[in-house]
Amino acid sequence: MDLQADKVLDTAILFQGPPLKPASNPEAILLTGATGLVGPYLLKALLHRTKADIYCLMRCGDQAEGMRRLKDHLVLHALWQEEFEPRLFPVAGDLSKPLLGLTEALFTSLATKVDSIYHNGALVNFLYPYSALKAANVLGTQEVIRLAARSRLKPLHFISTVAVFFSRTHFQRGVAAENDPPQCDETLKGGYKQSKWVAEQLVLNARERGLPAVVYRPVRILGSSKTGIMDFKDTLCHLIKACIALGKYPRLDTLIEYLPADYVAEAVVHLSLQERSLGRIFHLCNPAPVSYKSFLQELNSLGYPLQEIPYDHWVLELEQLAARQPQEKIYSFLALFLRDSNNLLLQQMRFESQNSRAGLGNEVVCPPTDAKIISTYLTYFQKNGLIPAPSIS
Ligand SMILES: NC(=O)c1ccc[n+]([C@@H]2O[C@H](COP(=O)([O-])OP(=O)(O)OC[C@H]3O[C@@H](n4cnc5c(N)ncnc54)[C@H](OP(=O)(O)O)[C@@H]3O)[C@@H](O)[C@H]2O)c1
Repeated sequence: MDLQADKVLDTAILFQGPPLKPASNPEAILLTGATGLVGPYLLKALLHRTKADIYCLMRCGDQAEGMRRLKDHLVLHALWQEEFEPRLFPVAGDLSKPLLGLTEALFTSLATKVDSIYHNGALVNFLYPYSALKAANVLGTQEVIRLAARSRLKPLHFISTVAVFFSRTHFQRGVAAENDPPQCDETLKGGYKQSKWVAEQLVLNARERGLPAVVYRPVRILGSSKTGIMDFKDTLCHLIKACIALGKYPRLDTLIEYLPADYVAEAVVHLSLQERSLGRIFHLCNPAPVSYKSFLQELNSLGYPLQEIPYDHWVLELEQLAARQPQEKIYSFLALFLRDSNNLLLQQMRFESQNSRAGLGNEVVCPPTDAKIISTYLTYFQKNGLIPAPSIS
């Protein structure tokens, strides 16, 4: 694994000619990752805020299967509208393959057709090593850059993550500004963070060489603020499940910083359609993060009586629960994960977001992490079997 070598962009990619203008009025957009958590909200926001056709690069056998996948996914997220269909163009491809899994002719044709790219797709897996993520996240980003440069220079909007700052240098500083270069050393642990760091470096390298690229770095993302719909891959979902099972929550004196997926998408699209955003970096943060304590206490008022106990005791009780209920594999995984309290990001950083605040103004406002949104999430968790309904006392 040589992250420094991998961040060197293929010199065969040439950035020639003036960038396409204006960025604010695209006619054809390429979107990756439409079938994930953030993707359907990005797709909806792009369909609403532009008149563009949207080409969705996705894993599917052919266009018809792609359309079925897209439709099913938007229906699942309560976003589907029949009038979307004529503007959607699934492209069967794969981020982990050369030329995104397309033939040379198709790759060039797509590069000629689209005038703006939103690269949101990635293999988001916190357990895989870098070697397993490199093809989709690093080489895939290089192929997307190749497409952005091919035929005519097109704006590239890249969804990165604040986790590119999770190394010792930045933790020691305690704060990262949008224009701070993320440092990589042996303390940037975890394949996912490493792969996103390298991918972002490739995009920044392309930007230096003339590509009109924009980088968005969101904090962690949960389901829609309106419906709570999400998969349950985030640790917070399992933490809540375990708290309810134990009737106890761990004492945590830190902040919990999440954004709803619908807000992230609206913010990205709003920023992306401003000409002055080209070349900039945006941190997407929750302006009013709540403490873990008040978040978990909210469970009490929603009918789950929970008692606070010291963190180490709670992890010990979780280990005992995992031993009693081996069929709930997530408990032993969570106990292992939480044994290192840093995994809950207890060593916290602050992310400055002047560029985002200036670009978003009062037009796209982050919903507060209040009782309403927590209740929306919990209701979704209940309906989908993650947690039991509260017992009526
Ligand atoms: N979730 C977070 O907390 C968070 C926080 C900060 C930044 N981000 C960034 O935000 C972006 C979206 O994250 P997310 O949570 O929406 O991820 P997600 O739910 O895991 O979705 C990932 C998307 O990427 C696609 N994808 C993965 N590998 C692919 C491949 N080889 N070829 C084609 N498509 C592929 C997936 O397609 P399939 O449906 O075929 O698997 C899916 O559509 C990512 O770039 C992530 O790094 C996420």
